[in-house]
Amino acid sequence: MEISVRKGELASAPCDLLVVNAFFGMKDLQGATEGINQALDGDLARFMKEDHFKAKLGATFLMRTNGKIPAKRVLVVGLGKKEDVDLECVRQAAASSLNVAKELGVHSVVSVLHGAGAGERKAAECAQAMTEGARLAHYSFDTYRSSKKEKNEVVRFEIVSHQGQDVRQAIKGVELGELMARATTYARDLVNTPAQDMYPEKLVQAAQQIVKGKGTLRVRVFDRSALARMGAGGMLGVAKGSDHPPYLVHMVYKPKKATKKRVALVGKAVTFDSGGLSLKPADSMMTMKCDMAGAAAVLGAFSMIAQMAPACEVHGIFGAVENMPSGKAIRPGDVLTAMNKKTIEVLNTDAEGRLTLADTLTYACKQKPQAIIDLATLTGACMVALGEEITGIMSNNDDLAEKLSEASKTAGEKMWRLPLEKNYRKLLKSEVADMQNIGSRWGGALTAGLFLEEFVDKTPWAHLDIAGPSFAEREIDPYTRKGATGHGVRTLLSYLRTL
Ligand code: BES
Ligand code: ZN
Ligand code: ZN
Repeated sequence: MEISVRKGELASAPCDLLVVNAFFGMKDLQGATEGINQALDGDLARFMKEDHFKAKLGATFLMRTNGKIPAKRVLVVGLGKKEDVDLECVRQAAASSLNVAKELGVHSVVSVLHGAGAGERKAAECAQAMTEGARLAHYSFDTYRSSKKEKNEVVRFEIVSHQGQDVRQAIKGVELGELMARATTYARDLVNTPAQDMYPEKLVQAAQQIVKGKGTLRVRVFDRSALARMGAGGMLGVAKGSDHPPYLVHMVYKPKKATKKRVALVGKAVTFDSGGLSLKPADSMMTMKCDMAGAAAVLGAFSMIAQMAPACEVHGIFGAVENMPSGKAIRPGDVLTAMNKKTIEVLNTDAEGRLTLADTLTYACKQKPQAIIDLATLTGACMVALGEEITGIMSNNDDLAEKLSEASKTAGEKMWRLPLEKNYRKLLKSEVADMQNIGSRWGGALTAGLFLEEFVDKTPWAHLDIAGPSFAEREIDPYTRKGATGHGVRTLLSYLRTL
């Protein structure tokens, strides 16, 4: 599918599907939609009324044009209440229209620039959101299907505006939206790939592939013996039960004229989480190929970072391991020594993410960044707290938490801050070691965050628990269907663009 922007009149645009929009509860059609209505002799408004079309966000109304205009069909997509329209509505409206186009099996779509008419919203941002929505709605993961569906594909998605100023801005927005969407779908592919084909070595290869031929990118890889020399007891401990060896991967993006800022992005990279000897029940294991979604988000961001070219230096770090039970696996009660020399009593081998992050966060601190952001599918407890669609932010730095929160809003990824309650630190006290890897029954997301805090010194740090939003067990919105979501990628890139 090619997404483009063109100056022109909607009413005279030849296409299979012409997309306009409407606000919820508005008596009369407005702007471009009213223009099309007039070209159709008022049929559009009449039929919409007859069918009680209310223009709820993402709702669609389809009609044939009977040759009155060059477009074969007109689709009205709801934007919701006018005063509530934001970029996320624009993203969803574009996604809904694309979903209808796919359902119809049409080739060419021409769309109005949703949201640009209203107030201060810039044409560039609207076009970016539309591109993200359309691209992500268009995504499917078919690698493992024997018969690739030979359905008619949407090959052309054209945004048409008669305002030259809007067109120039929208072209830039589409470019940025393309990068955001490509980074996101890259992460989705990594997460959707079954763990049989996505083991630690494959994540190493992904990183190597990304840096290849890019002057601003490089990568270092540490294998098992290097990890032993570095004292990465957390990673080595978790990896013991698996036939796949562990790797620590360190990517660096350094622009030609870098600002003084240096950020480290750290991802949990457990390519499959069986729970280890503290084995998960069958149902909980079904989606555990998603347990490397944190690293996938970091890799997704890095896959487009050279093109996006933020001004700061960025480090991407993950410790790839597989968590399996075997005669060689760590046992509940075993004590590991992490890279920063702290000892950890492993009371539950299913709380493995924090063991690997202990080492990768320690390693990240050694790069002396001004900020560390980690993304991890860390706890089921975070899903109990915030549900399937919202990420938990825990941070030792209000400014960083605030900036990430802002970036997540821009990106259309939902996040909410949770406290790092000092008084809960006692829950991680061990009888035999410096700390234990599980807290009490309650507040599991917070005790996991407090555990990680022990490994970042005083570096400004934010932990994103993405256990819920990284993998959709049902359809979330018009551009997020069942499976990997790529959640976190666009927040990271939006954040980096602000530095
Ligand atoms: N990878 C899981 C967390 C998870 C759960 C991610 C559901 C995505 C969906 C993590 O390693 C884990 O098993 N955590 C345990 C921690 C507990 C043993 C303290 C959990 O949440 O139950
Ligand atoms: Zn686990
Ligand atoms: Zn896990």
